Amino acid sequence: MRRPIVAANWKMHKTLGEADTYFRRLMTLVPEVPEVDLVICPPYTALHAAQRALAGRPIYLGAQSARPEREGAFTGEISLAQVKELGATHVICGHSERRALFGEDDQLVARKVWSSMEHGLVPILCVGETLEQRESGNAWSVVEGQIAAALGELELSDPASLVVAYEPIWAIGTGVSAQPTDAQEMAARARRWLVARFGTIGQQVRVQYGGSVNRDNAASFLGCDDVDGALVGGASLDPDNFWKIAQAAVG
Ligand code: PGA
Repeated sequence: MRRPIVAANWKMHKTLGEADTYFRRLMTLVPEVPEVDLVICPPYTALHAAQRALAGRPIYLGAQSARPEREGAFTGEISLAQVKELGATHVICGHSERRALFGEDDQLVARKVWSSMEHGLVPILCVGETLEQRESGNAWSVVEGQIAAALGELELSDPASLVVAYEPIWAIGTGVSAQPTDAQEMAARARRWLVARFGTIGQQVRVQYGGSVNRDNAASFLGCDDVDGALVGGASLDPDNFWKIAQAAVG
């Protein structure tokens, strides 16, 4: 049995005050022992406050990105060691917005994934195709290429140390989600790849779906056999919505 994992990607949203209000509300909703792993990925500016606000609660913190280098001349960037110090346990790697807007290529994404694991952080590896690639029948070959580039050389001994998020780019932030059957098909293909590469450990790696997940459609994705959770953007900005989505993961 794979334990569901539902992650909130706040992107560039919320001041410290807004984050504080969010955490106060979320803590009234989440029970002492939730049946789902919850990960909040706030902006870097709110990570430390989140760590304090959520201390002792079964809610993980993630960074939306981080550089793999230990330190150096990377103006405006932040390292994996630094986000770990702020309380992060997870790191989103290769989100399509980072790939498209900040020029992150497969090689850098791979280094982020490997380096995250070396730091004891769980990478959430994002993969997904554009609408054009889907319509030309190349969705899986694109996604397979992204997965292979990031994970092909990886040693994996603990399935809990990696999460893969299938996020079709055309469904992110558009309000147009994929069909659950598409999400299931791609998640199943990703899992077959993971099993071929890592054996039985691959069977236990969790695969999320992301792209316009909301409280109304969450159950249709989270009910799919190979979809073990969701990576949620817009709908995660409201704690009640986020918790409703998380509840859909446990049926
Ligand atoms: P969305 O974003 O839920 O707003 O579509 C998902 C993501 O970017 O991970």
